[in-house]
Amino acid sequence: MEAYKKLLKNNKEWAEAQVKEDPEYFQRLVNLQKPETLWIGCSDSRVPADRITGTHPGEIFVHRNIANLVIPTDLNLLSVLQFAVEILKVRHIIVCGHHNCGGVGAAMAHHSYGLMDQWIWNIKNVYRMHRAEIDALPTYEERHHLLTQLNVKEQVMNLAKTSIIQNAWKHDEIPHLHGWVYDLRDGIIDPVFEMPAGTMLDPIYEMENI
Ligand code: CO
Repeated sequence: MEAYKKLLKNNKEWAEAQVKEDPEYFQRLVNLQKPETLWIGCSDSRVPADRITGTHPGEIFVHRNIANLVIPTDLNLLSVLQFAVEILKVRHIIVCGHHNCGGVGAAMAHHSYGLMDQWIWNIKNVYRMHRAEIDALPTYEERHHLLTQLNVKEQVMNLAKTSIIQNAWKHDEIPHLHGWVYDLRDGIIDPVFEMPAGTMLDPIYEMENI
């Protein structure tokens, strides 16, 4: 059976099983979109946000892109962020990278993938900022892992720089920002960085009139 047909078959079976277990499951969900968390993760098929966090429909608002980047010209991400912060009023935003991320690997290498190179160069910027620390590590695996962690941290800081987060922090005590790294080998998430609401940024990013 072709993969996409299997998806439709699985979907039918899943929907039936849900109703069997809980007849009001879907009726309840229709009226429920009050997630407390925004997840910004990698598009990698091995990192499904809800499965690895044991969450159910309605619990997390999700944005995924290659290597979980927060780029200030990305209208898609900014729209998700603004909606999550200003309308859903999420309490937590998680940027989740992962072990063996192909995007991070591409940033460490010199192979061109075409248009995507422009996306990946953002991770190369993170590498450049921390080159001494990364290059000091003995193995490729360790260097890849450190860049994955540093990339997550940088993307969390990018969130904090946005006028959306700056504005929210000025007026509310939320959202809190978290940087996590998921390990594909054992399924465990490592929290590597945190910016609670109101955390001071490098002063150059602060806006006086927001
Ligand atoms: Co990835």
